[in-house]
Amino acid sequence: METLTHSVSKQDVDFLPINGTDYVEFYVGNAKQAAHFYQTAFGFEPVAYAGLETGIRDKASFVMQQNKIRIVFTASLNADSPIAEHVKKHGDGVKVVALWVDDATAAFEETVKRGAKPFMKPELQHDENGEVIRSGIFTYGETVHVFVERKNYNGVFLPGYKPYKSNLKTEPIGLKYIDHMVGNVGWNEMNVWVKFYAEVMGFAQLVSFDDKDISTDYTALMSKVMQNGNGRIKFPINEPAEGKKKSQIEEYLDFYNGPGIQHIAIATDDIVAAVSKLQERGIEFLKVPATYYDTILDRVGNIDEELSDLRRLGILVDRDEEGYLLQIFSKPVEDRPTLFYEIIERKGAKSFGKGNFKALFEAIEREQQLRGTL
Ligand code: FE2
Repeated sequence: METLTHSVSKQDVDFLPINGTDYVEFYVGNAKQAAHFYQTAFGFEPVAYAGLETGIRDKASFVMQQNKIRIVFTASLNADSPIAEHVKKHGDGVKVVALWVDDATAAFEETVKRGAKPFMKPELQHDENGEVIRSGIFTYGETVHVFVERKNYNGVFLPGYKPYKSNLKTEPIGLKYIDHMVGNVGWNEMNVWVKFYAEVMGFAQLVSFDDKDISTDYTALMSKVMQNGNGRIKFPINEPAEGKKKSQIEEYLDFYNGPGIQHIAIATDDIVAAVSKLQERGIEFLKVPATYYDTILDRVGNIDEELSDLRRLGILVDRDEEGYLLQIFSKPVEDRPTLFYEIIERKGAKSFGKGNFKALFEAIEREQQLRGTL
């Protein structure tokens, strides 16, 4: 059973108050097709668009929404642009983890003062719906955090975007909000980034476990969780660890060409319904052996869900001191074995499913074997 430790450099006054995740922006090869996939498979509604038809000459962006989750897909319209370079190097992947703040200028100044590398100085944009101020700093790899101040804006997304309506009817599946977003960093870089989130962004370390906890013969990793002051933002960080087999984190770093976002965990109130829909629509998930379910109730005690549903869908269960959680992990959703999704339903538990890591690692190993990357 894991212990939750609230510790390290928690400041008395939060110098970087964050209201929540504002949006996640992917750089992709073809934004129109990515948007279609997220609409039909995950049930995201296309709500806004920017591109040639709206006067934008160099890129196309589709904004997708489901409850509190907003995802943007952006593709370059020409060969020589930072977006095209990003896609060439990393494949489709997350470029921006945008954070919703009340003061984007202060967020920039406070973090840069503490050592952040600037990505975008505070910039005011406006249109007939008001104004937005955004600023940004780099985090691991080429990933950035953009601070979004939108209290004086009531447009559909940002200035420059127009409302967009698809001819296709969206069928949402009850995905509610982003629970956490996990980054993979390089060998010996864990402490650099733990320090970055602690000192530059004022986050605190939440749960600590080392490689002995989560690897034996399996592909090894180390993981630490950084959380902001009000607990709305959780960024676990993974570093590869030496094991007998090639670490899944190393496989990611090879194919992504460096650190980046490994998985986005999305919360739902009804994981059985959401995962049923996702599987019907073709999303592939990691499967643990059927024997996992033979002993699961001995490990986690009573749960509200039917075990037969969990077994049929491959949903995993774990318990901590505060309750339990249900979770499942997709296979990567790009050609490269890079970013994947977690669907999570929390029933009181605030941890991340450590009890499932062994079964999961074995499942990931079987996939790595198929890819010839173990
Ligand atoms: Fe996770």
